[in-house]
Amino acid sequence: MKIGFFDSGIGGLTILNAVRGVLPEYDYLFYGDTKNVPYGDKTEEEIRTLTKSAVEYLFDRGAGLVVIACNTASAESLRKLQDTMLDGAYSDRKILGVIIPTIETIIDADSKTVLIIGTNRTVNSQKYNRELEKQNSSVKLITIATPTLVPLIEANQLQDAYDDLKTVVEDQTGEVDTVVLGCTHYTVLKNQLKSDFPKLKIISQDEVIPDKLKTYLENHPEIKLRLTKGKNLETFITGDAEQG
Ligand code: DGL
Repeated sequence: MKIGFFDSGIGGLTILNAVRGVLPEYDYLFYGDTKNVPYGDKTEEEIRTLTKSAVEYLFDRGAGLVVIACNTASAESLRKLQDTMLDGAYSDRKILGVIIPTIETIIDADSKTVLIIGTNRTVNSQKYNRELEKQNSSVKLITIATPTLVPLIEANQLQDAYDDLKTVVEDQTGEVDTVVLGCTHYTVLKNQLKSDFPKLKIISQDEVIPDKLKTYLENHPEIKLRLTKGKNLETFITGDAEQG
């Protein structure tokens, strides 16, 4: 069995690469749905349908565990897919998301006021707000959608994307002590953000998910012991002639 990663585009590769740094021994699959990116402006139903078919694709190619490395898909479809897919042929598989590990990290960081930026869907879903409430946390959340960023990042226009991000963060300085990059695509902008705002804590999911996944596997030997250790990576990019 392999570890599968899914993202609406190529942003999730940053998370996968960081995970491979911490857990290099396993075999990995990556599914990037570049044909349908961005997910951030799609309906909840469209996101669920696309995410379900990606997870099925990864399960059918040997993933024992799939990480939905996309905040938008985690917000709109994780719980539903966990409730509906993990029976029958897939009863021995698991699906994980990125929002709850990020919430745990916010709480551990002892933050007081946190700016979370993400896609329209992630922000409108209020998933971060609800998960934080469940933890009875007194952290104050400010959530802002930044829909221009993903298309610019997918087009490799990183400076334009960073300029938009910086404007949003500048508007909130003085208000917040922590910024969460609540979209896997935004991880490519984190170094510039850290250097321009040295007083802010920047939470980037490529620094969150690797250790969280490692801990998850330690706590779930029934999954861990079935994972194969060949150090291989297979990628499936939709809309790409090379798709495997
Ligand atoms: N990378 C995705 C996320 O983490 C979303 C990008 C998109 O498809 O809009 O939310």
